[in-house]
Amino acid sequence: MRREKVFNTLELREKIIEKLQRMKVKRSEDFEVLSEVFNVEVLMQLYDMLRKGLLKEFNGEISSGKESKVFHAIAKGNVEVAVKIYLIVNTEIRRMMLKYIIGDKRFERVKSDSRSLVYTWARKEYANLSTMHEAGLPVPKPILVQKNILVMSFIGENGQRAPLLKELHELKNPRETYMEIINFIVKSRDEARLIHADLSEYNVMIWDGKPFIIDLSQAVPVTHPLAGEFLRRDVENINRFFMKRRWVSETIPVEEVVGDWLTYSS
Ligand SMILES: Nc1ncnc2c1ncn2[C@@H]1O[C@H](COP(=O)(O)OP(=O)(O)O)[C@@H](O)[C@H]1O
Ligand SMILES: [Mg+2]
Repeated sequence: MRREKVFNTLELREKIIEKLQRMKVKRSEDFEVLSEVFNVEVLMQLYDMLRKGLLKEFNGEISSGKESKVFHAIAKGNVEVAVKIYLIVNTEIRRMMLKYIIGDKRFERVKSDSRSLVYTWARKEYANLSTMHEAGLPVPKPILVQKNILVMSFIGENGQRAPLLKELHELKNPRETYMEIINFIVKSRDEARLIHADLSEYNVMIWDGKPFIIDLSQAVPVTHPLAGEFLRRDVENINRFFMKRRWVSETIPVEEVVGDWLTYSS
């Protein structure tokens, strides 16, 4: 019985890969190699998106992390997009995820099995991106979320992603960029009423001389019990990095940004 099921799954995989290969899918050899991401469910969803014309091309991998992998693709209207595929995660990562889900009234009724948790994680990033994008904050524009796949606008051009702040050793207007990131933090709190909660040089991309903030799945509403702590850490990370690079001679004290926090948590 079980063997039969495995066989059917493999056969199904082969069939979908064959179909995908007939569509505009570059580097389709990835599907074989990276089976960790491209399980039957993901392959079927990608096939579905290509068939419906939501995606026109699916290209190579941009980044590979523990929780997700990000790919470059072309969507309807020939726009470049980033496709983030969240992996089904282990216990340690699940525990981390729950810290940002419990206390977030929008999502805390989630089922705790890995699959449901990861779907929630993807929907949480989509919701956070939507709220921030609508508030006019510099984040990728979310396009669609389906199970564990999120499609958003691509920061970069011609398949080349923009550099992360971490990867740069020079900035045109460092003081201005610093202020733009601090403004993001404040405006996100006051207008989108969200705290990024993992802000650092790894989650800021510099494109066209401007900072874009990415990686929003862990962001929490200002009402989350740990929101104040997360906010403080975000500001400290940015301050520390700008001082380390000697891009600014002084930073805005954390207290000044976090100072009126009590008005939010009460
Ligand atoms: N919208 C995007 N446009 C271009 N590149 C992106 C985009 N989103 C993510 N990336 C790339 O993928 C990497 C991982 O994405 P991120 O959302 O930070 O996930 P994680 O850090 O959890 O792996 C980023 O460091 C960046 O290089
Ligand atoms: Mg990241």
